[in-house]
Amino acid sequence: MQQGFPEGFLWGGAIAANQAEGAFDADGKGLSTADMVPYFKKKDYTNLKELMHVTSGSIERAMRHNSAEGYPKRYGIDFYHRFKEDIALFGELGFKVFRMSINWARIFPNGDDAEPNEKGLQFYDAMFDEMRKFNIEPLVTLSHYEMPMSLVLKYGGWKNRKVISFYEKYAKTVMTRYRDKVKYWLTFNEINTTVIEPFTGGGVVEDTVENIREASYQALHHQFVASSLATRNARKINPGFRIGCMLARMIHYPATSSPEDVLQAQIDNQLNLMHTDVQARGSYPPFMKRYFAENNIQLATEPGDAELLREHTVDFISFSYYTSLISTVNPEQYGVTGGNLFSTVKNPNLEITEWGWQLDPVGLRIVLKELYDRYRLPLFVVENGLGAKDKVEEDGSIIDDYRIDYLRKHITQVREAVADGVEVMGYTSWGAIDIISASTSEMSKRYGVIYVDQDDEGNGTLARMKKKSFYWYKKVIASNGSDLE
Ligand code: BG6
Repeated sequence: MQQGFPEGFLWGGAIAANQAEGAFDADGKGLSTADMVPYFKKKDYTNLKELMHVTSGSIERAMRHNSAEGYPKRYGIDFYHRFKEDIALFGELGFKVFRMSINWARIFPNGDDAEPNEKGLQFYDAMFDEMRKFNIEPLVTLSHYEMPMSLVLKYGGWKNRKVISFYEKYAKTVMTRYRDKVKYWLTFNEINTTVIEPFTGGGVVEDTVENIREASYQALHHQFVASSLATRNARKINPGFRIGCMLARMIHYPATSSPEDVLQAQIDNQLNLMHTDVQARGSYPPFMKRYFAENNIQLATEPGDAELLREHTVDFISFSYYTSLISTVNPEQYGVTGGNLFSTVKNPNLEITEWGWQLDPVGLRIVLKELYDRYRLPLFVVENGLGAKDKVEEDGSIIDDYRIDYLRKHITQVREAVADGVEVMGYTSWGAIDIISASTSEMSKRYGVIYVDQDDEGNGTLARMKKKSFYWYKKVIASNGSDLE
């Protein structure tokens, strides 16, 4: 039995370009889907529509709005200009890996450009070079909740098959350019978001389509094909690359032991795991036929798609885990609580965070065991963390014991899963540094072990400060996870 974490375990942190970089129009970058999301004060965190708030009308307004004001993802935490300082802090933490994403619209501003934007490519060159100074391995997500906005306006986003070739070209361009600098790649962040929040995941604007569910699954199918093509090309570019898929694992427990609830939980889990089934096993699972038929979804596929999916499956499975969910056939009997892109009925056994997420560290062990049983591929926990408000004390300290507690409990469960025999490659806590929230665009929903002085309206010095959790996580990494106290 493996005691503790294996040697070479990849400890680190994760962020996404669209939530951190800012500099939304610098050095030739085009507008991306994330630049369309305004900030507005939220009242109800269980209402998904209100949270994301992107419609044809809001896009029109955003396209006319030339500044970053009121659109937090346009300014992020100015990582674009401060990445050296931030990577030095990651170096101090002892990170072995840093998960970040390339902003597609920095490389191909319109998505369908003939040539890439050299300045955009240089920016990531500089970032990878900086990481190398600290022996930090990059883990690169090719598309994390953004795509060039002009692919949405001109082609309708991922529901249009043409987008596959633009993505393929983009992936080829960056994989070739960074062939010797990057080894680990993820093709899409939380690919299942495309069917949950189609604009965020797939650039599909709900009020422009007749059957949103059909359009979302169509977009998803195109992403599956694009991911396979990128995987195929990656292996030619550098056979040493390791390519992963990325799922927001939403494990569903039945609300009761009634067979109806258990069946409902099974269906909800199958619908979540179908994404990794396609990307790791190489085909749609049989139950999807019935799901498509019953939901009026006619998927347009092309000859050769099935073969591509079958032949170019991933090397490892990565996933995010924040919480567990509940399934029931009688939802009206229970209260509802939120998350970011989803809501669920409440689990009476779990506490919830200020933003409604249910705290369930044991669920992470269950997920790791279940994924390994199902796929027998190495697993990578690429997102896990606690969004909370932090207070800066008069002496400048930030005592975030709640975050330490969250991380400790979850990392303990990863260690247990390793002892259960699960092959886990690494763990990157979400929001290593405070960034703009994906769902609410708030700054005050902080995940980092590094504090950033900025409020929800974008005021602040942007100074970086080490939280108590910074010192704790540093110790965890230095001891390869054996010191979690
Ligand atoms: C994941 C996303 O779903 O959750 C991240 O991949 C996101 O981009 C994270 O930031 C936390 O969600 P939120 O909405 O609290 O930022």
